[in-house]
Amino acid sequence: MCGIVGYAGNQQALPILLEGLRRLEYRGYDSAGVAVLDGGEVQVVRRAGKLEALEQALGSDTALNGVSGIGHTRWATHGQPTDRNAHPHLDCSGRVAVIHNGIIENFYTLRQQLEADGHRFASQTDTECVAHLVEGALAEGLGFADAVRKALKRLEGSFALAVLHQGDPGVVVGAKRDLPLVAGRGEGENFVASDFAAFLDHTKDGVILEDDQVVVATPERLDVTDLDGDPVEAYEHHVDWDLSAAEKGGYEHFMLKEMHEQPLAIKQTLEGRTDPQGRLLLDELRMSEDELREVDKVFVVACGTAYHSGLVAKYAIEHWTRLPVEIEIASEFRYRDPVLDRNTLVIAISQSGETADTLGAVRYARRQRARVLTVCNTVGASIPRESDAVLYTRAGPEVCVAATKTFATQLAAMYLVALYLAQVRGTMFTDEVASVVRELEQVPGKVELCLERSDQVRKVAEQYKDAHDWLFLGRHVGYPMALEGALKLKEISYLHAEGYPAAELKHGPIALIEDGTPVVVVHPSSHVYAKMLTNIQEVAARGAAIIAIAEDGDREVAAHATHVLRVPPTAQLLAPLVCLIPLQLLSYHVAVARGCPIDKPRNLAKSVTVE
Ligand code: M6R
Repeated sequence: MCGIVGYAGNQQALPILLEGLRRLEYRGYDSAGVAVLDGGEVQVVRRAGKLEALEQALGSDTALNGVSGIGHTRWATHGQPTDRNAHPHLDCSGRVAVIHNGIIENFYTLRQQLEADGHRFASQTDTECVAHLVEGALAEGLGFADAVRKALKRLEGSFALAVLHQGDPGVVVGAKRDLPLVAGRGEGENFVASDFAAFLDHTKDGVILEDDQVVVATPERLDVTDLDGDPVEAYEHHVDWDLSAAEKGGYEHFMLKEMHEQPLAIKQTLEGRTDPQGRLLLDELRMSEDELREVDKVFVVACGTAYHSGLVAKYAIEHWTRLPVEIEIASEFRYRDPVLDRNTLVIAISQSGETADTLGAVRYARRQRARVLTVCNTVGASIPRESDAVLYTRAGPEVCVAATKTFATQLAAMYLVALYLAQVRGTMFTDEVASVVRELEQVPGKVELCLERSDQVRKVAEQYKDAHDWLFLGRHVGYPMALEGALKLKEISYLHAEGYPAAELKHGPIALIEDGTPVVVVHPSSHVYAKMLTNIQEVAARGAAIIAIAEDGDREVAAHATHVLRVPPTAQLLAPLVCLIPLQLLSYHVAVARGCPIDKPRNLAKSVTVE
């Protein structure tokens, strides 16, 4: 859950590294550091805190002069986020610098062995042992890349790392296991990084490394080998989105920009996946219709917001296909011995395609011979690459840690998957599928309308910004939306919020309600509308301030709610796609009113690549 970037070229490395780190800060922002080969010596500057703290310490873009270097932005695992634990880490001689994303699981044993051999450690991190292992291998007379390969063979755990060595100017060695590492091919310059975004203004072409591959980057070449040094054919990749997609484009925050990109993101995710008659065309799945007909059970696995999209999908898949669906938090799935076989379809949902728990669940499911379909926003990421089938969402890069547009597109993609299963298995008539598709196609316009109502949401948000406890209630597909609304509020405003199935409140949580407690109810029209209204009255009677999300034209709700945030009428199963907008706006405006940092909330990182 850190970001790494390395540069080997002919330009000053420092500004390129800092720019790369800025684009990777979504991966962690506890501390940051750089190492540049300057005047024949490895020079390191690192600071606790966000990238600005490092930039302040450096003073200017030319503080370090050199044409090769490495940079790191950290989300702490081993050791507190202090200057001393910030990367890069050095060996005893200060000639080898290492940056690392991941966890070296046997670091304690390695550290004891290395200390017994006379190595002196300067930090509490697991990473530092890599620098000392490389130092040891160099002392045995191995060349730089071979020394790194030898060190890697002793590591247990996960890593994406990059190494710089004083004796090899203009060379950066990178390697990976279980965590992402890509290399960019420029003109007279090459890159390694956690993500293509780090060097996208230099090149859109490069390779995605596989596990236990090592890349040696020089200004002229990118050579990829296995751990024995044998050349391997790397997975070539061309990035098809523009850097402008990863810029704020005039919005105050990435979150605001990304919320406003939702109509387009949903439209793009639907586009080209149906024919003019409304039949689903999902040949891209790489899973045959026969295989899908054999499925007798579906598991959905995901984490966080992606899990909430899976919860919504459960309602849709069961209703449209009559297949039983279990939904499970990915970190729990593989540790409870779930019943899977060849006829089980496991659907993994992950915007990043990197989440360690979801990747673990996918691997587990495949070992049990289940078929795995992934819904993902990141082309070529580990989870889709390790799955049998993939449906990409087309949200474009999402920078804000809080997921918004990727959630909307996960919902859209999962509706497509559910309809496709129904079409292939014959549980819906063609005209029924076509009618839902037509309704889906109306959604981007409705989302646009909800976004235009942002000011109304802001007024409510400002009124309740100091309420420390919030409840979010829903029934049917409104329940996952209540969970998502609560998660968004917690994540970016640091307020306590709980999502509940509305009727469950009576079984305990209703005790939390005091005079003025804000209770957000997701209340579009549905077959449980009347029951929901009863639940609203139960909490209103106990003094709650009801903020209802209800449809235009619903007159009844206003009699019971303190505030009504309106959404356009939408088919019941698809309503999450419109209800999510006021929920997102509410958390955004509350967080702004409270002066929270919005795009980089404390303690979080965009991709959770550790278990
Ligand atoms: O990349 P993924 O979709 O697998 O990420 C899963 C969660 O970490 C993610 O949805 C997280 O909950 C978001 N920060 C929520 O806004």
